[in-house]
This record gives sequence, structure tokens and C-alpha cells, in this order.
Amino acid sequence: MAYLNDNYLKLKAGYLFPEIARRVKAFCEANPEGASRLIRCGIGDVTEPLPPAVVAALHKAVDEMATRETFHGYGPEQGYEWLRSAIAKNDFRDKGIDVADDEVFVSDGSKCDCGNILDVLGSKNKIAISDPVYPVYVDTNVMAGHTGDANAAGAYGKLVYLPCRPSNGFVPEPPKKHVDVVYLCSPNNPTGAAATRDQLTAWVNYARENKTIILFDAAYEAYISDPQIPHSIFEIPGARECAIEFRSFSKNGGFTGVRCAYTVVPKTLLAATKTGEMNPLHPLWNRRSATKFNGVSYIVQRGAEALYSDDGKAQVKALVEHYMGNAAILRAGAKKAGLKVFGGVNAPYIWVRTPKGVTSWEAFDKILGEANVVITPGSGFGSKGEGFFRISSFNSRANAEEVARRLKELKW
Ligand code: MLT
Repeated sequence: MAYLNDNYLKLKAGYLFPEIARRVKAFCEANPEGASRLIRCGIGDVTEPLPPAVVAALHKAVDEMATRETFHGYGPEQGYEWLRSAIAKNDFRDKGIDVADDEVFVSDGSKCDCGNILDVLGSKNKIAISDPVYPVYVDTNVMAGHTGDANAAGAYGKLVYLPCRPSNGFVPEPPKKHVDVVYLCSPNNPTGAAATRDQLTAWVNYARENKTIILFDAAYEAYISDPQIPHSIFEIPGARECAIEFRSFSKNGGFTGVRCAYTVVPKTLLAATKTGEMNPLHPLWNRRSATKFNGVSYIVQRGAEALYSDDGKAQVKALVEHYMGNAAILRAGAKKAGLKVFGGVNAPYIWVRTPKGVTSWEAFDKILGEANVVITPGSGFGSKGEGFFRISSFNSRANAEEVARRLKELKW
């Protein structure tokens, strides 16, 4: 008899986005007219084509694969040196942040790496997450057996939940008690809040005092418009001793369907063995990559490299401006509809409070049924997300304008 991983049976319902897709499909089948005018502002998936610099680089790389002389088989599991170096230089060293080329590990996605990182961390860690939160952080810990069962509110035993509310600007404060690992996401998915330098400094200080590791998800850093907001946890002194950073090309370069991201593991980051000896995590992550991963394809890595060319940088800027233009339109539309609006200034997500007495899923159903717009119910991100919904600004300009118009027409 083979045994399954019982931890999977603790998971609540489906993963949020497949669950939304299921409900939307049912709606469309029952309402062909509504289906024909459906606009999706649910999952944060990009809509605009790849930057031309990337398309050219991808074509060139495909052609290289077509001749024996320039063909590439397996590449280095950690990523090609030219891409690791372009990342470390452009995203960090040119900005005065100390990151070495070989501290950058190229991967097929931040979502994957946020889960994979648990391979190199022990099973006894006290883990803290924000509430609301990107569900991947929670579910991967459930799968790994790091939690107890979920209670009626959906909170898992053993996890430490850090409430994010309007009163703290949706940025969690370091807890009074000790935790070993904390996930921070800034700019935040789902609330659109961005942590200030002081807030991140408080976290780095906490982490250093408590020997805590910060798992810092910066997938949306390209959307920061406020020059005072840090783009990387490594801008904070001491972070090289306590943090790992996840970055992605999905939301800046439009790579959600291409797949490329990277994780920075500083060589100065230590964690304890069972006997309490402090060892670096970098060699473990390197070993994991070499054993479980064959690297991102040569073609895709050449595409990612093109994002760092002059043309690539200008095209990324234009893409970000496009989506943030949508965010401004959607924010204004939701405000004019009389709703209380957060986020959408340093992030492509708008976090909206539902009208009094309306739950997140009730708002989802009403907006889907009457406005034929898909949003994401806040409660899908955690119990403190109840009473909110998220609007994604990844869309065409025409759709963003139409959604703003339809939101204003809704009668609650
Ligand atoms: C979201 O909508 O929250 C994103 O699509 C999540 C992701 O990038 O995986």
C-alpha cells in the first residue's frame, strides 16, 4: 500500500484562482449574454504583448538552437552567467545594493520558488504570514506539514497570522513573540500596500535580534512610483544576514506565460542545524537547484536578458505605465462608486472595501452577475481579507475604462 501526503487533505477548498475560474465558467454557461461582455480583473495576469526587445531576443535564440554550432543543451541549473550577471548588476549593484552574481538563482517563477524554498528550511520553524496574504505562502507550508488543521475561519494551527488592516496601512508589524520565518510581500499582493524604509528596517532589526529569516517577495517592485519606498529588502542595512528575496519577470516584462524569475540567496545568510550550529543556506539552495532543476530554457533566459537592454528597459517602463494608468482609472471609478479604496499607487492591485454588510463573495457574485466583471474576493486571501475585494489593473485601457464605468453604475 502506498501512502499519500495527508497534509494535502488539510488544504481548504481549491486554490483561490481555480475556484474563481470554476465559478466564472458556471456563470458564463448559464448567462451567454453576460459571458459575451465579461471583463476579467481577477487573477493578476498580464494582457499586453511581450516587449519587442524580448521578442527579437527570443527569435534570435530560437535560430541559434537550429544549428549544431550554436545549439544549447542543458544549461547551468542556477542560470546562465550572463543573465545572473545582468540581474545582479542592473537590479542591485547599479543601485548601490551588494549582491554577487552567484547569489542570483534564475528560476521558472517566484510562485515556484516561494514553495521550493521550504526544501532547505527545517520542519520545526515557527512561521509568520500576513493576513490577508498571497495564498501560496500558506498552502505550501500546509503541504510541507508545517501547520495544524484549519479552523472554521480558515486559519491553520501553528501559523502566526499578522493582521493587515487599514489601521496599519496593511503592512504587518513585527510580532511581540518569536518567529523563525516570516513572509513579507512588498508591494503587496493582494492589498497593494508598499512597506516604507522604516517599516522594513523594523523587520530587519527584528529578524536580526530573533535570528529570523525574512522571505521577501518583491515580484511587484517595478510598480513602485514613490522614490522613498525600497525596491529590495537588501536596501536595508543588515538584510544580507537575514533575508532571501524573490523577484519575477512576470509582471514587469509580461513573462507570466514565458516563465522566468529569480531568487537572491546571500552567502552571508545563516540558519541553524539541529544542534544549533549556524550554517549558510546558499550551498543548500545551490545543491537543491542542481538536484531538482535543470534550469530555465536558454531561449527564455535570452528573452529575460533583453529586458536589461536600453530598449528593453524603456519598453518595461512603458508597460508599467500602461498598467498603472489603468490602476488610476480603476481607483477613480471605485471611488466615484462610493467605495473606500486602498492600494493601486505603488502596486497594480486595488484593494476595495465592500459596502457595509456585504461579504467578499457576495460582492464577487454581484459584480460578476450585474457588471459582468471578475474581481477577486478578499476573503480568499485570509480571514482579514473578508469585507474587501481586489481589482487587478492588468488589462487593456479600454477594458479598464469600461470596468470603471460599470462599477459606477452598480447599485449596492
Ligand atoms: C494573483 O492574481 O494574485 C497573481 O496572479 C498571483 C501570481 O502571480 O501567482
